[in-house]
Amino acid sequence: MTDPGSDLAEGDRVEVVVEAPAHGGHCVARLDGRVLFVRHALPGERVVAEVTEWRRGYLRADAVEILESSPDRVEPPCPYAHPGGCGGCDLQHVAGDAQLRWKADVVAEQLRRLAKLHFPVRVEALPTAVPRTGASESGAGPGSPLLGWRSRVRYAVDAAGRAGLLQHRSHQVVPIDRCRIAHPAVQELDLLARPWPDDDAIEVTASTGGDLAVLTRPSRGRAAAPGGDALTGDPVDFASSGGRRERLAGPAEVVEEAVGRRWRVPPEGFWQIHPAAADTLAATVVELLRPVEGEVAWDLYGGAGLFAAAVAAHTGARTTLVESSPIGCAAARANLTDLPTIEIVEARVETALHRRRITGPVDLVVLDPPRSGAGARVVRGIADARPRAVAYVACDPAALARDVGTFLGLGWRLTQLRAYDCFPMTQHVECVALLEPAG
Ligand SMILES: C[S@@+](CC[C@H](N)C(=O)[O-])C[C@H]1O[C@@H](n2cnc3c(N)ncnc32)[C@H](O)[C@@H]1O
Repeated sequence: MTDPGSDLAEGDRVEVVVEAPAHGGHCVARLDGRVLFVRHALPGERVVAEVTEWRRGYLRADAVEILESSPDRVEPPCPYAHPGGCGGCDLQHVAGDAQLRWKADVVAEQLRRLAKLHFPVRVEALPTAVPRTGASESGAGPGSPLLGWRSRVRYAVDAAGRAGLLQHRSHQVVPIDRCRIAHPAVQELDLLARPWPDDDAIEVTASTGGDLAVLTRPSRGRAAAPGGDALTGDPVDFASSGGRRERLAGPAEVVEEAVGRRWRVPPEGFWQIHPAAADTLAATVVELLRPVEGEVAWDLYGGAGLFAAAVAAHTGARTTLVESSPIGCAAARANLTDLPTIEIVEARVETALHRRRITGPVDLVVLDPPRSGAGARVVRGIADARPRAVAYVACDPAALARDVGTFLGLGWRLTQLRAYDCFPMTQHVECVALLEPAG
């Protein structure tokens, strides 16, 4: 398609100077008043960018030649991370500390743009899950904390039955030998060399308790094969794609270890993907909320109950977990039997608040919605219940910024923000924001 504003068409190449990173795994560049979102580039670089997509108001492009390179540029450790290659990682060409700065800039920019709030942001690396041996100068050699962390991987299967990962913004499967960011136990499995004529996808889980499970999604016809970001680039939505699965290997429930407990969760249910994420996020929620004995709490979008368990251990009081997925609720019921003050409500949070299935007063709220965020109605419902503090755990900075904007409009303040690199090499970042009523 051709851009009527500048006569640019998909496939055209232009020289641009790259500016700041933007939400979505790319940087901004400008050409004759047009905005280009350029992947595979770094701020400050002069590149030849090839237009990949035309949209009203902006163009998408890939940096295909680097004319002036940033000092933060490194050789991608994965051979499939290049224009037209695997779309699972956005930042393989970026040094580890620069990935943290990139993500901090994106979170700060989203807060400025969508919540009209200037707030300093620092992104912290998570403790490494894999022993560090032989790390290269870029910090991304074998044993690097940037690689080998991904405990849940979903491979797509193409029409020829080959398994791989998806191209960026495409249903095209890129066959690969192994995914370098996957947990070593996942990389060692011989799944990618085999044909999969009867399946649409293969899902692999390597749990912190040492279990390894493989599920397949039997084909519903190739035209209906699942695609999009959820298969490769969206680590958070692993559990949300629905569909029938068959267990190929491993236990029906895997053991996860977090907040001093052993959890049994089905591999198709939600669990934090980075092995260090569950403990880090739960500790941060507790650190920010400072729960004390007797305080009543809500854990909204509670999954198997990670945050409810962490908070209830301090309060010993009624904690209501709201979760819409029957799998998540069943896991919560089975895993929290020793914490009788936790009540599980199987419902959508919007419905639970609106139909008064949960009502205030409440002291503390943990809010951990999917990528779309909580939305204004849910935020208003929480504010109406008048908690003293809300810990908002967010996997999408734009959704977080929109919801923070709603809180600010209701007279609340963002008082602390912690951000973690729970998804190294990808554009994704996890934030924990503390919101408190003003005054
Ligand atoms: C990001 S996960 C967080 C789960 C849990 N807090 C954890 O850290 O393990 C979001 C959860 O919200 C659930 N969910 C999605 N939409 C929902 C809704 N409208 N109401 C309630 N739960 C929802 C999903 O099933 C998923 O378990």
